[in-house]
This record gives sequence, structure tokens and C-alpha cells, in this order.
Amino acid sequence: MTARRNTLAAGTLLAALALPLLVHAEPCQLEIHGNDQMQYDRHELLVSALCQEVTLTLRHSGKLPKEAMGHNWVLVKAADVTAVANAGRGAGLANDYVPPGDQRVLAHSRVIGGGHSTSVTFPTSILSKGGAYRYLCTFPGHSTTMTGTFKFG
Ligand code: CU
Repeated sequence: MTARRNTLAAGTLLAALALPLLVHAEPCQLEIHGNDQMQYDRHELLVSALCQEVTLTLRHSGKLPKEAMGHNWVLVKAADVTAVANAGRGAGLANDYVPPGDQRVLAHSRVIGGGHSTSVTFPTSILSKGGAYRYLCTFPGHSTTMTGTFKFG
């Protein structure tokens, strides 16, 4: 009798714990692809304000190595796109084309080559609801085509 009641209680507790995870899990995962034509497959990404954390996965669907056609994903305030693209160029592949400690970079992935994927997880506490954000690839020359709007709210 006691054991059965405990099982029921445990089941209720599990359901209560799992519900918010199920509700929030899907929109908090983002995926974007880069290719050998210097393009992302998405020009806009949306994150719900219900997400406390976001995991973005970048997949390189091309074949070229990262030295020739590397891609990353860098999140910045919209006003900082050009400055971060320029600074990234000088940082080099060893730093994933992101200057170490650059405060304008809100989140970024590593640089990957064709056939590879990488993920970056960041807290949404760094974002403001309705703020103007953009993402870009900081591999030299790529940000002209590889950029998009990031919406949080
Ligand atoms: Cu790129």
C-alpha cells in the first residue's frame, strides 16, 4: 500500500518536472547550415523569451576544408556587425576569427569545415527582449553574404 502510494507520488513529481522541459525544449534548439557557396540556409532565427538557454548547432553541408571555406556563427548587437567582422579577420583561424575577450561578441561557435558540425550554448540573460541582434560568419569576406537577423522575444 505504502509502496504503491510512493510510486504514484513519484510519477506525479516526474510529470511535473518533465512538463516545462517538454514545453520549452524545442524552440530553444536552433540549427543553421553553411555551404561551399558562402551561404547560410537561414536569414532569420527566432528564440522565445521562454527559453533560458539556447543551443545553436551549425552544420557545414559543403566539402571544402575550414582553411578555405570555414564557417562559424557569431551573435552580436546589430550595430556591431561591421566592427566585429573586421576585428574577426585579424584574429585568425586559431582564434576562430573572433578576437579573444571581445565584449561585442555575445556568443560564437568554432570555425568548421565541410562535413562537420558544432554547437554553442548560451544563456538568454545576455539578451534583451525585442533587441536588435544579428549573426554572422567572421571568416574573412564571408559576412557580406553570411549574416542574418536574430530575434528574441
Ligand atoms: Cu563562412
